[in-house]
Amino acid sequence: MNIQPSNIRWHEAKVSKQDRHFLNQHKSCVLWFTGLSGAGKSSLSIAVEKVLYDYQIRSYVLDGDNIRYGLSNNLGFSPADRKENIRRIGEVSKLFVDAGLFTITAFISPYREDRSIVREMFEGNEFVEIYVKCSLEECERRDPKGLYRKARIGEIKDFTGISAPYEEPLNAEIVIENDKQSLEMSVDQIITYLKKNRFLKSN
Ligand code: ADX
Repeated sequence: MNIQPSNIRWHEAKVSKQDRHFLNQHKSCVLWFTGLSGAGKSSLSIAVEKVLYDYQIRSYVLDGDNIRYGLSNNLGFSPADRKENIRRIGEVSKLFVDAGLFTITAFISPYREDRSIVREMFEGNEFVEIYVKCSLEECERRDPKGLYRKARIGEIKDFTGISAPYEEPLNAEIVIENDKQSLEMSVDQIITYLKKNRFLKSN
């Protein structure tokens, strides 16, 4: 059921996003990880969160598998359900960025259009798309949850990379060659980007 916009009203807060940035002593943004299942999005997002914590940055990870236990537990993997999943995460990320947090999201988010709709929700350079690139062969070799094997024998339908598409980003802010470099190098690559773009102070 859609609520009629004319019947609801946006309440302006007395504390702005800029006030929260001042209080936190840092800006806020969304680090949007995208890539195949098993590409390393979750491991990388957790590692980045730890480094940000050490920099005294307030952050929070929204992870695909975790979110599907709660907020998106009524959604499957059809294109329409994935679109709705990504829309919800986009909206939650926007609130978190407004709350002054570095928001780190780890979702396959396979469709360019869905990612681009989320990008449009943000101001300036707040939306940082990070393509965690890893070949299908390597993801399938790793198969940490045994899902690729199940998808190959038809036990899982609409599986990204096997029976559903993954549309590579064309203009991601950061591309991580995750099958060619260490986790440490990937974290460094992201931290360097954040310093260069003044999200983090470079000491
Ligand atoms: S997304 O496409 O909507 O962005 P999301 O990141 O939330 O996907 O969930 C992906 C996780 O769900 C995968 O890491 C995998 O563990 C699990 N999964 C279960 N079924 C599928 C499927 N058909 N395709 C992709 N991932 C699946």
